[in-house]
Amino acid sequence: MKQPALFDAHPELQKQIPWIAILPKPTPTRHLSNLQEALVSKEEMWVKLDNLTSDKYGGNKVRKLEFLLADALQQNKRQIATLGGLGTNHGLATTVHGQVNNLPTRLYLTDQPITSHVLQNLKLLYHFGANMIYVKTRRNAQFRFRFLDRLYQRHTYWLPLGGSSVVGVLGYVNAVFELHHQITDGQLPEPQLIFIPVGSLGTIAGIDLGLQLTGLSTRVRGICVSPHPPSSHKLTNLIQSTLKRMQRSGEFQDFVYQPRFELVTEHAGTGYGDPSVEGAEATQLACDHEKLTLEPTYTAKTLAGVISYIRKGGKGPILYWHTFNSVDLSPIANKVDYRSLPKPFHTFFKSA
Ligand SMILES: Cc1ncc(COP(=O)(O)O)c(C=O)c1O
Repeated sequence: MKQPALFDAHPELQKQIPWIAILPKPTPTRHLSNLQEALVSKEEMWVKLDNLTSDKYGGNKVRKLEFLLADALQQNKRQIATLGGLGTNHGLATTVHGQVNNLPTRLYLTDQPITSHVLQNLKLLYHFGANMIYVKTRRNAQFRFRFLDRLYQRHTYWLPLGGSSVVGVLGYVNAVFELHHQITDGQLPEPQLIFIPVGSLGTIAGIDLGLQLTGLSTRVRGICVSPHPPSSHKLTNLIQSTLKRMQRSGEFQDFVYQPRFELVTEHAGTGYGDPSVEGAEATQLACDHEKLTLEPTYTAKTLAGVISYIRKGGKGPILYWHTFNSVDLSPIANKVDYRSLPKPFHTFFKSA
């Protein structure tokens, strides 16, 4: 990509905000006409294919990493440290793209339900050279992360959960500028509503801010993937801090952000990482009608939210933002013997 759509629209930002190219080009959008037909609906359903953000490892994290890795390099950091569940997609994306940019990753890994996806990601983390540290609970991870290691590691760039810092959020502000260009170019209609999974909040934060900065009237509905919803207050603060960071360049001085996002928990199922029944149906429909591959934790629950909205007579056009990597790394994972991973991880493979 020659430069982000955000810098095309606001060149002043380019002088203030470091960025490196990872996406080869804007991700395409597509009319989900077969799924729409299967649901017997007249309301237009569209997808933005952020599974295609990279041919090494795609998905939503890559957009954040274009800004995060650039920030780390500008600060002369020599490694990244971050945290996540055992099957963290964020950790894997950071490891893969960090390695390409000579920034090795140290990862604090916490318990989550063991699925085949989690086991595959553990093997891939090892294969791509992550320094994997099993810390069991989020509390332990935060402790290591916030206090202990920071004291000693001057050359480490610290990424919060999901890469959802102010710098990471810029990745999805930029993504909405890209979408705005695709809409004005006639590639898709302006959506009424965007559906996006919600984990560490960075993706939805960037989308809500981006929608308002571009002047689109589209709203965003965040599908929570755990029955305990994240705090709206925290999300609003993250958005306000991102806006402040952008205003330092002199742009958007008179802009006032008004929260327009919606967070819904009704598709979360029994817990984070637990597959849901309606998610399984959504996965089947996406595969059969659109050849889209979903995973159970984020994307299945989000498309279930879309399907439920359409079945209840919700208005379109809607845009389902597909956030899961689709590069098939299973041939690599299959070659990894779990016994070569650090010892604390063996137990997850033995009991699977
Ligand atoms: C596939 C996928 N979609 C969506 C999300 C949620 O994004 P965020 O953490 O920015 O809320 C994640 C987070 O890990 C993810 O892996």
